[in-house]
Amino acid sequence: MADLGQLRTFRACHLASSAVGDVYFRCQRQGKVAYVREAVVLRTPLSDLLAIDVPVFAAPMGFISGPELAAAVSNAGGFGIISFSGNPPPVLREEIGRLRSLTDKPFGVGVLLGGPHLPFPIEAIIDVCLEERVSVLLTFWGDPTPFVAPAHAAGVKVIDQVGSVADAQRAARAHWR
Ligand SMILES: Cc1cc2nc3c(=O)[nH]c(=O)nc-3n(C[C@H](O)[C@H](O)[C@H](O)COP(=O)(O)O)c2cc1C
Repeated sequence: MADLGQLRTFRACHLASSAVGDVYFRCQRQGKVAYVREAVVLRTPLSDLLAIDVPVFAAPMGFISGPELAAAVSNAGGFGIISFSGNPPPVLREEIGRLRSLTDKPFGVGVLLGGPHLPFPIEAIIDVCLEERVSVLLTFWGDPTPFVAPAHAAGVKVIDQVGSVADAQRAARAHWR
């Protein structure tokens, strides 16, 4: 079979079929037919916003989404996110450092704003995320509005994960920039 560079010069080259992640081109010249498979890269506005190759997120999971998992996702072109997992600020800073040693790609940190009482203020966790300039601060179980302006000032994007209709309506009403 001719290589793809040659086949692209054929006049009768059209889409024959497609599958998830792949497109097959049917190429024909002088009675000879060849099929060439090309990978399709899905690009969405999210890809550009987060500087990722594949618009796939690793949702944060407490005590499960650690640096290794997040780095694997980011290194594969998706967006890796660690959960703060209820860790105190110094431990979270270490985890972020460990994640940075495993990938040079963008990643985020997921923080639960509500839930079980922790022996430190959640603001201290947010401060670590902003000081470390993680790409994304993802929040859940609470209203992230007070943290949005400081995050944006630090160059950190905020993702408001919603788990209820009321939260979704609150997020939809927000006027963030
Ligand atoms: C075991 C487990 C732990 C989770 N921990 C967190 C967490 O720490 N922070 C958070 O924002 N979401 C947490 N989530 C929610 C996930 O991020 C995600 O929103 C949820 O699983 C819905 O996505 P899915 O439908 O793909 O499962 C957790 C989910 C699971 C299953």
